[in-house]
Amino acid sequence: MKNDIEKVYYSEEMIQNRVRELGQELKTEYAGKKPLLVGVLKGSFIFLADLARALDIHCEIEFIAVSSYGNGTETSGEVKMTKAIGDVIRDRHVIVVEDILDTGLTLDYLKKYLLSMNPASLKICTFLDKPSRRKVQISADYVGFECIDAFYVGYGLDYAGEYRNLPYIGSLKPAIYS
Ligand code: IMP
Repeated sequence: MKNDIEKVYYSEEMIQNRVRELGQELKTEYAGKKPLLVGVLKGSFIFLADLARALDIHCEIEFIAVSSYGNGTETSGEVKMTKAIGDVIRDRHVIVVEDILDTGLTLDYLKKYLLSMNPASLKICTFLDKPSRRKVQISADYVGFECIDAFYVGYGLDYAGEYRNLPYIGSLKPAIYS
């Protein structure tokens, strides 16, 4: 798997340090509020697991699943919900946890869906943010790293379902796509 990586952008150490900082930030903001972390599957599962452990306050965890990518590196533009969430949002302080904010179509769709369930508050925490790619106006409240326009794999991010289990974030050699 490592041989397929062209460049490492975020090392395991950089990731772990940043997650610890985000955990501290959220801990200060949400102490006493028992936030509900809603992880967006599949990409957020590793970030959410690390963030939840860095967050050292009472919280609950739910998952929601959407898909828009098929097997390629470009979004299809059509967001489909493949796992909805029950009536657990109402009056809760919700933090949506996402792997990467790219065009914004996924989070725009999810934000509207979750807001319709009347949470007490709703914020977005994404590990990577690619602002140059945005197609809709949406921003995250908590960002791990603002990144340049590239296609990333690792730390939950996949290409055609693989590479999610790399402990760092990198780009693939062009030969892998052909
Ligand atoms: P958006 O709807 O375009 O913002 O895309 C969000 C979703 O696209 C993310 O949750 C990822 O699953 C996927 N995605 C966007 N950029 C990348 C990338 O660089 N690598 C892997 N997946 C990505």
